[in-house]
Amino acid sequence: MKIIQVTDVHLGRRGELRFGADLHQRFASCIAHINAHHADAALCVVTGDLTETGAAQSYADLRATLGTLSTPYRLLPGNHDRRAYLAAAFPELPVDENGFVQSVHDTGNEVLLFLDGLAEGRIEGELCAMRLAWLRARLDEAAGRPVYVFLHHPPVALGLPQLDPLALQQPERLLDLLERHGNVRHIFFGHVHRDIAGTVAGIPFSAQRGLHARFELALDRSSEIVEQAPPSYAVILLDSAARRVVIHGCDFLEQWPAYSAETGQPITV
Ligand SMILES: [Fe+2]
Repeated sequence: MKIIQVTDVHLGRRGELRFGADLHQRFASCIAHINAHHADAALCVVTGDLTETGAAQSYADLRATLGTLSTPYRLLPGNHDRRAYLAAAFPELPVDENGFVQSVHDTGNEVLLFLDGLAEGRIEGELCAMRLAWLRARLDEAAGRPVYVFLHHPPVALGLPQLDPLALQQPERLLDLLERHGNVRHIFFGHVHRDIAGTVAGIPFSAQRGLHARFELALDRSSEIVEQAPPSYAVILLDSAARRVVIHGCDFLEQWPAYSAETGQPITV
């Protein structure tokens, strides 16, 4: 099964440049690239920070561009989002019984779980008792089948002094549940605007760089320097029977020099 992960779209006002980039243009190029190369994907998951300020107009803009996407999609809120405006713009988006933007994609063979870690007005993420109870019930229903989890905030300290305090709070409450299920194969998230992979509580995880600028890599200090890395989305290949998860990063705006492997001569592609 092929899944696309797009993250940290940060749609703001039309025509606005942030750190030299037009996020509207970027998002449209991203969707066009997915349509051209991965229209066979089962699902496109956008893991939060859909908008920059949570403005209603930004969700309308988001919806207009997503209308051109040729795959089904699922949206998760990030700390920049406003749940009410998101839900109003996407009334068909599944929510849980308490109105949190949490949902399930159950293929029969495996279960994808989408979590809502938004704590309105705060940068860090939270999964309150209600959201955790929903998750516990979904994990029970999965009954040992392979589970893949998507959320916005990292449920793990990444060694980034600036961003670690802004991660999911009390991550052990989530990790304990996932560990107890015993068959959670991967956790996918965004928030840090950087490609990172590792394991936590024995569960593999990956962060996706996404579409927006980021702080420079600083493992020993905070930094006020923002760098404009090439925007990227992830192509995820899941084969639950083979216990295989493969994640390709796709820098969709980049065009590197190309050469013929046969002649060594430059070619145009
Ligand atoms: Fe973000």
